Amino acid sequence: MKVNLVSRSGREVVKGGIELTDEFKVLFLGVRFQATVSDLQEAIHARIKKYYPSRQRLTLPLQAGCKGKPVVLIPKKKLADYCDGNANNLTVVFKDLGVQVSYSTLFFWEYLGPLVIYPVFYYFPVYKYFGYEGERTIYPVQTYALYYWCFHYFKRILETFFVHRFSHATSPLSHVFRNCAYYWTFGAYIAYHVNHPLYTPVGDFQIKIGFTFGLICQLANFYCHLILRNLRSPDGNGGYQIPRGFLFNIVTCANYTTEIYQWLGFNMATQTIPGCVFLVVATLIMTNWALAKHRRLKKLFDGKEGRPRYPRRWVILPPFM
Ligand SMILES: NC(=O)c1ccc[n+]([C@@H]2O[C@H](COP(=O)([O-])OP(=O)(O)OC[C@H]3O[C@@H](n4cnc5c(N)ncnc54)[C@H](OP(=O)(O)O)[C@@H]3O)[C@@H](O)[C@H]2O)c1
Repeated sequence: MKVNLVSRSGREVVKGGIELTDEFKVLFLGVRFQATVSDLQEAIHARIKKYYPSRQRLTLPLQAGCKGKPVVLIPKKKLADYCDGNANNLTVVFKDLGVQVSYSTLFFWEYLGPLVIYPVFYYFPVYKYFGYEGERTIYPVQTYALYYWCFHYFKRILETFFVHRFSHATSPLSHVFRNCAYYWTFGAYIAYHVNHPLYTPVGDFQIKIGFTFGLICQLANFYCHLILRNLRSPDGNGGYQIPRGFLFNIVTCANYTTEIYQWLGFNMATQTIPGCVFLVVATLIMTNWALAKHRRLKKLFDGKEGRPRYPRRWVILPPFM
């Protein structure tokens, strides 16, 4: 089979295309397998070293005048499955996704920033560089906030390495810079205000309610992540399943719900404008993702051809959405 590899603009990526024959993979006992998309990715990698498989996105060309998303080639599938009529010739659109890093690397760096930056504002005399001289009174709420914050990001790092089972092995390197900018900047912005020498604590009762509620939500969030973990096999296989049990019986993205509520608890206890800004931004981001995840599950589990139907559930924030 000859595969013509073109860019989105139609330019040839590998001159003359790539020849893949049935003999590309010959297993013992003489059983021959047809080439898969994964074989094609390896062949591209062999021709152009920098394009390792996770850096490649292969799609079928869109027909002229046809709008919508192109079909993405799945590594495990046979190339022959994508040949419409002509089994000897296939045109594939190649996109370079750029340098890739593992998902755990991406998450580790984005969470390490806030974990390190926040205590700097608590422990070190940084405020003198902002023009505040003299002794700083540290209120109990500022100490609890430090523990709460560090617990949260430490938990996220542990979950990254020991709980989550990601379906995508890698993410573009550029996302490390983008996500770090988001988390590190917000971390510094909130830490600066909560630990500020002019900070005024709210009442004791509000502090207790805020931290207790937030902590319960953090534990619930951890439990949600355990439920999601058990939907996949240890190698990350298993695709997307209907999450069931605990809060997932009511809401599709219960992990985001509990994440949002735990930040609400932190903000009730600490009450700063930067903390509230972060809560609003994080809620908007997660709501956007939750809508996409809810749509995907409803599409996957449409109740047709023996597939189960996705149950009626809130998307992220019952009883509003
Ligand atoms: N504060 C913030 O701004 C903010 C923003 C986002 C997230 N977070 C926190 O970080 C956590 C992780 O975020 P995330 O966006 O990676 O969460 P996520 O995509 O909802 O889920 C975490 C893991 O579970 C898997 N998963 C989700 N739904 C599944 C299903 N139906 N079937 C099988 N596996 C499923 C995901 O797989 P895939 O690898 O396939 O996605 C991923 O590995 C969140 O729960 C939240 O606590 C915080």
